[in-house]
Amino acid sequence: MEPIPIAADHAGFELKQKLVARLAALGYDVQDLGTDSPASTDYPDFAHPVAERVETGAARRGVLLCGTGLGMSYAANRHPHVRAAVAWTPEIAELARRHNDANILVLPARFVSEDDADKILDAFLATPFEGGRHERRVEKIEPSAETQ
Ligand code: RB5
Repeated sequence: MEPIPIAADHAGFELKQKLVARLAALGYDVQDLGTDSPASTDYPDFAHPVAERVETGAARRGVLLCGTGLGMSYAANRHPHVRAAVAWTPEIAELARRHNDANILVLPARFVSEDDADKILDAFLATPFEGGRHERRVEKIEPSAETQ
């Protein structure tokens, strides 16, 4: 069973609970890293544990949720090898996989319905990376020693 770490702040808590159930029903080994209630929290505290699992290879893919998706993506994308994509339509999730090899899906919980979120998650999980010219571009994302 593929492990999928998932986490949210308070703004994404309710939708996360639904996606945890959906991922479990789909047969994934869901690793719910919080938050565990709608009480106010700080999104980086939840972004980093999910991003660390993807960075180290403990998980191939992960899911994050916050109000806009932005704070979670900023924090997750500080990790080497993490490509966290905010997706608010299934088409964007599909392109994030196909062209950008996204390995963390970030959902803007305050701007997507539960039905949208299901479709976005399904697109993220089902779509392969296209490779080819996109591989060269994705490889260029990690800064080289000279540009650091
Ligand atoms: C919390 O109110 C909100 O700021 C947070 O969920 C997120 O949208 C930050 O990027």
